[in-house]
Amino acid sequence: MESRGALLCIFGATGDLAAKKILPALQQWSNDNIPFERIWCLGRRPLDGPGYHAFIEAKGNFRLNQRLKKAIDYHRLAFDDAAAYHSLADRIGAEGFDPAAKRLFFLAVKPEDVVPIIVQLQAAGLFATGKPEHRLLLEKPFGESLESAAAIQQRLLPLAAEEQMYRIDHYLGKEMIRNILTIRFANRIFTESWHGGAIETVEVISIETSGVEERLDYYDRAGAVNDMVQSHLLQMAALVAMDTPQTLEPESIRRAKIDVLKQMRLDSLHPPVIGQYAGYAAQVPGSTTETFVEATLRIDAPQWQGTRFVVRTGKKLGEKRTEIRLHFRPTRLCLNCSETLEAAPNQLVIEVFPQEGVQLRFNSKTPGYGYGVEPVTADYCHSCRMIGNKPEAYVKLLKNAWSGDKTLFAGFAELQAQWRIADEIQAAAREHGLVVYPPGVWDMREQGGAT
Ligand code: BG6
Repeated sequence: MESRGALLCIFGATGDLAAKKILPALQQWSNDNIPFERIWCLGRRPLDGPGYHAFIEAKGNFRLNQRLKKAIDYHRLAFDDAAAYHSLADRIGAEGFDPAAKRLFFLAVKPEDVVPIIVQLQAAGLFATGKPEHRLLLEKPFGESLESAAAIQQRLLPLAAEEQMYRIDHYLGKEMIRNILTIRFANRIFTESWHGGAIETVEVISIETSGVEERLDYYDRAGAVNDMVQSHLLQMAALVAMDTPQTLEPESIRRAKIDVLKQMRLDSLHPPVIGQYAGYAAQVPGSTTETFVEATLRIDAPQWQGTRFVVRTGKKLGEKRTEIRLHFRPTRLCLNCSETLEAAPNQLVIEVFPQEGVQLRFNSKTPGYGYGVEPVTADYCHSCRMIGNKPEAYVKLLKNAWSGDKTLFAGFAELQAQWRIADEIQAAAREHGLVVYPPGVWDMREQGGAT
C-alpha cells in the first residue's frame, strides 16, 4: 500500500477541552486545508468513529463538517492499557500511514498521566525519542508546583527531546496577546513611556462568569492560582514587562520573558487576596480551593521601580473579561502657570475579551470657549477589521505546532519561573483567610467575611 500522510492523536478526546476548544479549532482549520489525513480521538468510553462524532457534537454543541468526519476516527484506550496502544499502532499500520510523516500527539490529560502515556506510545512504536516529526502537545498544567513540574520534566527528558515538546498556554494564541509586542515596540509613544517612571500600575485581569462546572476533579486540586495565574496571567505580565528582545525569534522572546519572570516577586506590603464562590464547598465539602485570587507583584529591575503589577482572576463573577490595563502616573497641567490643573491619569487598555482592541484614555480641552480639561477615550476595535471567521487561539497553536514554530509555546525555563511565583502566591495567600463571595458579584474585593 502507498505510504500516507500526517496523524494527529488526541488523548482526552471525550473531555471538556476537546469538546470546547480542540475539536472546534480543528473544524475551523478544516475550512482551509487541514493537513492531517487521520485524527485519532482516544478515550476510555466504548465508542466507534460515528459514535464519537455524535458524542462530541452533543457535548460541544456544534456540528462537525464532512471533511472532519471523514478524518476523525475513535480508538478506545485507557492510558495504562498497553494492548490498546498496540492495537492503535495496528490500526494505523493497516491504513498504511508513513512512519516518517508528522505525528502530533495532543495530551489533554492530567499532569501525572503525561509520562505513562509517552512510555506506552514508545513501547508501541508510535513515538520516537528525538525524532523532530514526532511532537507532543502538552496541555497545562505542567505540574502542580515548582517541585512537581521539575519532577515531570526530569522523567520526560529521557523520553522526549525538548524540541519535540510544545507546552500549550492557549492565551499565547489569542490575537490581542500576540499583539502586545507590536503595540509596545512599533510605537514610539509607548516605547518611550513603558517604564516605572511613567506607569504606576499594570492590571492583568481575566475574570469569568462561569463556575468550575464539570472540571471539579481537576480544579479542586488546582485552584485559581495554579489554573490561571501560573500560566495565562504571568505570561501576559511577562509580555508587558519584558525588555526588548534581541530579535523576534521565539528563543529571543522566550529569553526576555524568562529574565523578567525571574525578577518578579510578591509585594510584601500587599498580601494576596483569595476567595471562593458561595456554593463551591457544597460540591466539595470542606474544600479550601480558591476560585478567585488577586496578587500584587513587583519587578526587581531598575526600569520597573515603583510599578505595581496586579494580577486578578476569578470564576462566577459579574462578567467575563480579559484585559491588560496600564495606569500612567498623574500629571499636572500648567497653563502660563497662573493656574494648575489636575489631569486624569492616562490609561492604556489592551482588550482581549470580549472586545479585541486598544483603548487609550487621554486628556483633551473641553469643547467650546473654555479651557477645561477632560479625559476622553480613543477606541480601536481590532476584531472589527477581521474579515470572515476569526481564527481561534487553538487553531493558531495547532498550526504552529504543525509547522514547528515555537513562538506561542512555553519553554520549561519559563514554566519554572512561573511556578516559583505561583508557589509564592499560594504560600502567602494561605496565611490569610478565604473570602466567600456570592456568585455574580462585580467586585470580589468588596466582600467581607474571611473564613
Ligand atoms: C483555562 C482554564 O486554561 O482557561 C479555565 O483552565 C478557564 O479554568 C479558561 O476557564 C479561560 O480561557 P478563556 O479562553 O475562555 O479566557
